[in-house]
Amino acid sequence: MSESKNIRLEGNGYCVFIGEIFSELNNWLKEKNYSSLFIVTDLNVYDHCLSIIQQNVPALAKAAVIPILPGESHKTTISVQIIWQMLIEHEADKKALLINLGGGLITDMGGFAAATYKRGIDFINVPTTLLAMIDASIGGKTGVDFDNIKNAVGVIKNPEAVFVHSAFLHTLPHDQLVSGLAEMIKHGLIAGEDLLLPLLMFSSTILGELTTIPANAATVNIMSESIGVKLNIVSKDPEEKNIRKQLNFGHTFGHALESWLLQKQQPVLHGICVAAGMIVALQLSEKLAGLDAIEKEKLVGHIKHLFPPILFREDDIDYIIGFMKQDKKNSSGEIRFVLMKEPGVMLVDQLVNEDEIKEGLKYYLSETQQ
Ligand SMILES: NC(=O)c1ccc[n+]([C@@H]2O[C@H](COP(=O)([O-])OP(=O)(O)OC[C@H]3O[C@@H](n4cnc5c(N)ncnc54)[C@H](O)[C@@H]3O)[C@@H](O)[C@H]2O)c1
Repeated sequence: MSESKNIRLEGNGYCVFIGEIFSELNNWLKEKNYSSLFIVTDLNVYDHCLSIIQQNVPALAKAAVIPILPGESHKTTISVQIIWQMLIEHEADKKALLINLGGGLITDMGGFAAATYKRGIDFINVPTTLLAMIDASIGGKTGVDFDNIKNAVGVIKNPEAVFVHSAFLHTLPHDQLVSGLAEMIKHGLIAGEDLLLPLLMFSSTILGELTTIPANAATVNIMSESIGVKLNIVSKDPEEKNIRKQLNFGHTFGHALESWLLQKQQPVLHGICVAAGMIVALQLSEKLAGLDAIEKEKLVGHIKHLFPPILFREDDIDYIIGFMKQDKKNSSGEIRFVLMKEPGVMLVDQLVNEDEIKEGLKYYLSETQQ
């Protein structure tokens, strides 16, 4: 399980270590000398990843483990109370460290538990899903769902560090891998052709030939590039006042579709909904933001090739638009999209009217439901 290259990226106030990170994590823990260590994880990650990190990082020998039930339905204040309770039972003081070992659910929830326990203790993220590695573990958004509203309660607080090791991905279910790749492609669209093309090739190889992500130098490189896109943006705009909104490309429709499918009890993973959302956003970008038609066709072709279509009918369009209006990023019934003039040039806060959105959704149907 060795990777030949390590990369270290600087965020505002914290580092992201990517590659063979176990010795770096071990040294970091020894250097920081926390009063006690706690590993928050979910039961799947407990089974698949916990022993790997425990065997490779001796400084974790005395860490107490706090297991949480997996799944978005457990991203709640009840799970956070379990974490707080364990911290209290172990007499964790202000110098304790929480280590979030898991996907975005654990990094969001553990981050929130740490940010609020005794008015804030340190935490680090050790992501184990692709989505968490390149997205959720970075940027300081922490929180839980409440009253059926996703991420209704939370705070922005950065981790002390993030340690990314792609070897954890070997046990990740395939659909979770696909979901993470969609967010990587989004980073490519935001960054421009220089990153987009390698990311499309990487995704195509993973989904076509390899079915998993190899732990090698090429992986470390491409993941670092993808992480760098998010890190760079969130460092400049941590509170999403302007450029951080670019990261919502594909999310206006993607998020509405995800919520609508969830309500129908036919959940589809976030990244796969975002891939559908990117197709709609690309069509709207051609109509409203001057994206070249041939470029759009090419990009839509790549996304269709990589990600499965999501089934819905023309009759469903009004319901899905209803979910867009409820989105907290929209107000007064107005719906805003992130559009793309060309790869690397994003336009945020673009008002799109309902007729244009309907056209976009019909385009998605015509492209995907033959
Ligand atoms: N804070 C942010 O900026 C941000 C960004 C994107 C998403 N999120 C949040 O992230 C969450 C989704 O994250 P996710 O997609 O990582 O889902 P997740 O954390 O629920 O993990 C997905 C599934 O994979 C399992 N799993 C995790 N690692 C594994 C491994 N290595 N081997 C086998 N199984 C493994 C988990 O137990 C779970 O069943 C959502 O709650 C979302 O709101 C946050």
